[in-house]
Amino acid sequence: MDMSESSGEDKPRRRQRYSGRHPKHFKEKYKEHAIDAHPELLAHLRAKGKTPAGAHIPILMEEVLAALKPAAGEIAADCTIGYGGHAAQFMRRIGPGGKLVGFDVDGAELERTRKRLEVLETPMSLHRSNFAGIAGVMNKEGLNGFDIIFADLGVSSMQIDNPGRGMSYKHDGPLDMRMDDRRKRTAADLLNTLSERELAEALWELADEPDHLAIAHAIVGRRVVETFANTAQLVALIFDVKGLTEKDLKQQRRSNPGLPHPAARTFQALRMLVNDELGSLKELLRVAPYCLRPGGRIGIISFHSGEDRLVKHAFANGLCEGLYRAAADEVIVPQRSEIMSNPRSASAKFRWARK
Ligand SMILES: C[S@@+](CC[C@H](N)C(=O)[O-])C[C@H]1O[C@@H](n2cnc3c(N)ncnc32)[C@H](O)[C@@H]1O
Repeated sequence: MDMSESSGEDKPRRRQRYSGRHPKHFKEKYKEHAIDAHPELLAHLRAKGKTPAGAHIPILMEEVLAALKPAAGEIAADCTIGYGGHAAQFMRRIGPGGKLVGFDVDGAELERTRKRLEVLETPMSLHRSNFAGIAGVMNKEGLNGFDIIFADLGVSSMQIDNPGRGMSYKHDGPLDMRMDDRRKRTAADLLNTLSERELAEALWELADEPDHLAIAHAIVGRRVVETFANTAQLVALIFDVKGLTEKDLKQQRRSNPGLPHPAARTFQALRMLVNDELGSLKELLRVAPYCLRPGGRIGIISFHSGEDRLVKHAFANGLCEGLYRAAADEVIVPQRSEIMSNPRSASAKFRWARK
């Protein structure tokens, strides 16, 4: 049985087979994949600052609600519905007289989220669509605008934790990294075909990787002898280039527990390239003012300095051009308590604007 497919209803009748006392691998963590049925496990994991496998903890929830103020009867677009954490809170506030229009490019997760949100009273319409196409979806829905447009950029915990998606340097898996499996090119395709210069530019521009030139050079040299297929190959190459071993990293982390993994920047850059994340964001920011009703609010959470810069400038320019009437003065970031209970929130940056 594929545990990533499991839900509360299709709970396994027998204990899953795994070695040791506790499941270690993503697919074996069957209780975490049906976390709503195991509140004690959820509390235990949250206390340790962990996210259950197959779930996602919404980030900056209170700050988002305070800025976007969803009200009864409003129409909200959640551009990145993911696990539905933010969407569920919007739906509770807009109530049965409002409507939630949700977007996600990840078909499998979208269907699981649909089931999770269907129990709420608010009418909902979910689209397997890139949020860059928000204007088209709005027209298809027969709407003249949204009261709220919200995006929580990047990947969900479900995507990053699932070794089969190839987004994490922590587990070996296929070098895929596509959020949308209808996209043609995987991370392996890019590693095996892009020029050294294109690779170096991506590593620098999308992740500020200081060893971008050396990593790009090593990738192009390695692929002559072996095709890139798995995450472990790329991780090993990065350790080589940086002159590090797993043992060195463990030792360094004893004195500096927050030290990023040497492959973190390369994985981020590749994922952003595979999914054209900056291209989609630019298009959303371009069309959003025309998809908001007067008084409508837009809010965007980003996790990358390049994305935050785009959001900041789009809102500031929109204010100058009269497309928006107000915008957040300062970037909003998580409080220390949120970072402690959900370390994945650490790099989040939230900005909003009002039409
Ligand atoms: C960080 S998660 C959102 C989590 C969600 N806010 C929650 O609380 O559960 C981002 C989601 O957006 C989706 N996504 C990323 N880029 C997208 C795009 N351009 N268009 C539509 N969905 C996108 C991803 O597939 C992922 O499911």
